[in-house]
Amino acid sequence: MRISVTDRCNLRCLYCMPDGVKQVPMEEILTLEEYAFIARQAADLGIRKIKITGGEPLVRLGCCQLIHMLKHTPGIEKVTITTNGMLLETYLDDLMDAGIDGINISLDTLDKDLYRALTGRGDLETVLRALKRAVKACQGRRIPIKLNAVSLDLKALAEQLGCPYGGPGWAELLDIARQYPVDVRFIEMMPIGFGRQYRSLDHGAMLKELRRLYPDMETDDRIHGNGPAVYYRIPGFLGSVGFISAIHGKFCHSCNRVRLTSRGYVKSCLCYEDGEDLRAVLRGAGTERERALQVKEAVKRAVLLKPGAHCFEDPRGITEQQSMARIGG
Ligand code: 5AD
Ligand code: SF4
Repeated sequence: MRISVTDRCNLRCLYCMPDGVKQVPMEEILTLEEYAFIARQAADLGIRKIKITGGEPLVRLGCCQLIHMLKHTPGIEKVTITTNGMLLETYLDDLMDAGIDGINISLDTLDKDLYRALTGRGDLETVLRALKRAVKACQGRRIPIKLNAVSLDLKALAEQLGCPYGGPGWAELLDIARQYPVDVRFIEMMPIGFGRQYRSLDHGAMLKELRRLYPDMETDDRIHGNGPAVYYRIPGFLGSVGFISAIHGKFCHSCNRVRLTSRGYVKSCLCYEDGEDLRAVLRGAGTERERALQVKEAVKRAVLLKPGAHCFEDPRGITEQQSMARIGG
């Protein structure tokens, strides 16, 4: 279960939450106790792994406290987080104390100016410093750190933003996997929210380019995490390279995700608005026992509602209207 703990973010990535996006009023967002309550019911149903997302999860006060609660929920085996890294250094010790099982850092470019232009407020050095510290803190503890990059056409983006650009391209992100035991994963842009306005690079062409740059690159069949990424290893690199091709490499048949939005809506698929309003149950009538049962029934329905496949290749069929920051990616 992916749990979005806030729709707020300290960055303004153009494809996710550009300036001017309205925030959900705080009273509409679940409290930490409400998240923990839902997680207990989800664990009873057999959900074992939780990913904490946002917006930016670390801007939610008590995020690490929630992680601690989730880690102490019987049945929950792993709690991981996806962060943009800006606040990671600040909260690293708290995350480790809470028992975090994995950290994904979102970073789309190593070009300092383009990173700032793309994210509005981001500072590349802050993120890279946090990444280094996180690698150190996680070393020897089997806590994987991954880097997620949306496969943007950085050159076209720089032109569009009027940003001087000759600098590191997508392939340079692999320097992170060369230097650190960090998997670098490229993610196809999905036509959700503002992402509709941007095109992904073609993963087939990227792979071809990597094979040219690294002729001894090999497919990596070891299982990394629980996700749908296809991995490659480059001799001498400490981390692997992954491709998450949600559109062209449709992995819907093996998708086991359910998403809980910050408003307490449990969604079956990124592509469609179908789901169940758990907040209405939590804040409705009935004893705690009754509400627990109702939440469980609703989560079950959401799982059973999972569609056969998304229809991202034909955006007319997409019914989800919310931005990624509200869904949690
Ligand atoms: N398509 C793919 N990935 C997206 N993200 C945000 N919007 C989109 C989109 N439309 C990514 C962010 C971050 C993760 C949480 O989701 O870049 O890595
Ligand atoms: Fe914030 Fe992540 Fe969205 Fe960027 S992609 S605006 S960092 S939530």
